[in-house]
Formats: sequence, structure tokens, C-alpha cells
Amino acid sequence: MMFAQSRPVSPEWVKYFAIALICALVAIDGIGSVMADQVKTNVQQTEASDSADEPCLVIRSDSVAARLGGYYGIFAFLENHALPALLSDREIASFFGNLTETPADISQCLAMMLDHDLGGSSRHDGTLLDTGHKCRGSMPKIHKGRNIPDRTITKFIQIIGQQAELAGISEADIKAVAKVLEQKRAGVRNK
Ligand code: HEM
Repeated sequence: MMFAQSRPVSPEWVKYFAIALICALVAIDGIGSVMADQVKTNVQQTEASDSADEPCLVIRSDSVAARLGGYYGIFAFLENHALPALLSDREIASFFGNLTETPADISQCLAMMLDHDLGGSSRHDGTLLDTGHKCRGSMPKIHKGRNIPDRTITKFIQIIGQQAELAGISEADIKAVAKVLEQKRAGVRNK
């Protein structure tokens, strides 16, 4: 009696079999669903679509700081929108005499502080600026001797909110910025 001799399984043969198996799986399930699963893990659907029926697929930044453009976005917003609006208010401007730093220093230090507190990568304080000014972290020390009353702080936060709205920042992110500013109120008030 003759038995058919089985041929030894060569590594080459295993490779071709594996490729054939992958092709078969993709053909059955469809490459689209494989890709869709991948996309689902990386992307969140935002509710903020123009039409509620048309959800748009965009990569949504995790932190408020990232959505505001990080340090550079926040700095540009402060320099171009918030500070001019704040300083055009006579009551607020009256507290900005005898500065120990330049207005640009204030924008840079405040931008880093906000970026940090809103989940960005900036340092909260201690950064040495080109002018030689070192950003400070203590609200009472920064505002010491200025006697800034509560209502002026309220106006300050309101103006920043109005400018953020004009700049197209979302309501939720404006609330997050206001919350960070509110948390500093006690350190700024009447120091
Ligand atoms: C409510 C939240 C506020 C926050 C978070 C805040 C934060 C800051 C920051 C980060 C700086 C830069 C300090 C540095 O690192 O050198 C600064 C400076 C300053 N802020 Fe505020 N501020 C607030 C409210 C106000 C208000 C309401 C006024 C006055 C109306 C004011 C007046 C000033 C002045 C005059 C400086 C410059 C101080 C100096 O030259 O020594 N701030 N503030």
C-alpha cells in the first residue's frame, strides 16, 4: 500500500496563506468598516454643527487651551482684542498706572497663566521674558497696592467675555475662561 507523502510546510507557503487569509477577511467584512472602526476611535463627533441633522466629523481638541490656540492663540486674543477693550474703559485703565512691567509683558504672563489653567503646556509662572521680566504667580503680590474693587474685577471679566464672543469663541469655552478668572478674584480684590 502506498501512502501519499505529505510535503514539509515551507515558511514561504505560510506567508502566502496568511496574505490570502487577510484578503479574504477584508473582502468579507469590507475595507470600509475596517477604516470606519479606526476613525471612530480617533475622532469624536461634535454636536456643534450648523445643522443638527448634519453632524460633522472633526477632531475635537481635548482642552480649552488647545481650542483657543494654546499660548499663541490666547496671547493674540489678549493683545488684539481683550487688552485694547479693557484699556479703552476709563475705570479699568485708571488702575494701569505705575506699571512694573510693559503691557506686552502682562499679555504674555496672563496668556501663559490662562493656557496653563485651561489645560495647556505653558508654565503657570516663573517664565523669564525677553524684556527681563519674570512672570509672577501670586495674584495678591501682582495687584498689591492697587486697591482694585470687586465691581472692577466683574467688569474686567465681562469685557474679556464680550471680546471672546466677538472673536467667535464658543459659549462653553468662554465660561471656562471666566471660571479661571473668577478663581483669581479673591487674590486680585482690594490688595
Ligand atoms: C480677575 C482676574 C485677573 C487676573 C487673572 C489677572 C492676572 C494678571 C497677570 C497674570 C498679570 C501679569 C503679572 C506678571 O506676571 O508680571 C497682571 C498684571 C496686572 N494686572 Fe491683573 N489680573 C486680573 C484682574 C485685574 C484687574 C481687574 C485689574 C485692574 C482693573 C488688573 C490690573 C493689573 C495691573 C495694573 C497689572 C500690572 C501690574 C504691574 O505692573 O506690576 N488685573 N494681572
